[in-house]
Amino acid sequence: MSILVTGGLGYIGSHTVVELIQAGFSVHIVDDLSNTEEGVLDRILQITGTKPGFTRLDLKSESDLERLFEGHVFEGVIHFAASKSVGESATDPLLYYQNNILGLVNLIACMKKHGVPNIVFSSSCTVYGQPDVLPVTEQTPIKPAESPYGNTKKIGEDILRDSSRAYEGIHSIALRYFNPIGAHSSALIGEKPKGVPNNLMPYLMQVATGVREKLSVFGDDYDTPDGTAVRDYIHVVDLAKAHVIAVQRQLNKKQKTAYEYFNLGSGSGYSVLEIIQSFEKINGVKVNHEITARRAGDIEKIYADNTYATEELGWTAQLSLDDMMSSAWNWQLKLKD
Ligand code: UFG
Repeated sequence: MSILVTGGLGYIGSHTVVELIQAGFSVHIVDDLSNTEEGVLDRILQITGTKPGFTRLDLKSESDLERLFEGHVFEGVIHFAASKSVGESATDPLLYYQNNILGLVNLIACMKKHGVPNIVFSSSCTVYGQPDVLPVTEQTPIKPAESPYGNTKKIGEDILRDSSRAYEGIHSIALRYFNPIGAHSSALIGEKPKGVPNNLMPYLMQVATGVREKLSVFGDDYDTPDGTAVRDYIHVVDLAKAHVIAVQRQLNKKQKTAYEYFNLGSGSGYSVLEIIQSFEKINGVKVNHEITARRAGDIEKIYADNTYATEELGWTAQLSLDDMMSSAWNWQLKLKD
């Protein structure tokens, strides 16, 4: 069974490729290497004993994509390839609509033409905005996006739903990730942001290693127990495993409707200060930090209700916050070498 993984050398993509190979799938990766490096292929080989197929390719190029689909037979696609910086999307929205929307449209057009029936899509809890009621179920209303990035996730879901409705044989599953952190237990793959990190964990760890001086905690006047914002952090390996289950659901023709969507979180909310404390405790390292102003566009608190994913996919998060903190740190220490 051959699965095409777009963005398969990125953070979540590489962890998913490992789980797919370990579950017995044959994997072909496409990646434009805009936010990762080809060396990740060797890391995947070291972990799994198998080097997946790889084509350097930009999904915006219809002709390159067409050539790929002419040369391979895929049973399904997992689509990670996308730009993901909320701030950058506000300053360059067209880049986000081109990379995230055009890429997806080209991909589904090729799937349709070549009879590839299944796609799993990286969506985000960002589609819920700040929900009125917590925890968030799949019935929680979708809100207008705060950023062009968030909008590309919402539109991406619309494209899947409409395509699965209109084109017989195209089955799609959107996975709405909460906040993925952590790294593979081998410490051979993990998150490696280019430039100054935007997200909490990579920034926190660069402070812990001394690369950056101080972590800014964005706001302590939220309506949360300690005033800092609350998120649902999920181990990237748990997230990767959910993708394998989603692919198997498609191949076994178990989808209830041609388009489905699931929340993927741990079900627990942690504040920014709780994350810092937990990191310091488990790893025995201090994280220099100070409270600063709120970050524009941030929501106050969000965490998932996992009932639907548990019932339908038989999936729940297995790894603890301690696992997330220690595996992330082990990876960061290896990165430094
Ligand atoms: N934070 C800080 N300091 C930092 C970075 C982050 O205090 O230097 C805080 C944020 O304010 C937030 C929490 O840490 O409260 C988590 O922030 P991240 O940037 O790590 O993650 P977000 O929840 O903002 O972003 C996630 C995904 C995005 C998605 C977004 C939607 O990473 O892909 O949710 O809100 F679009």
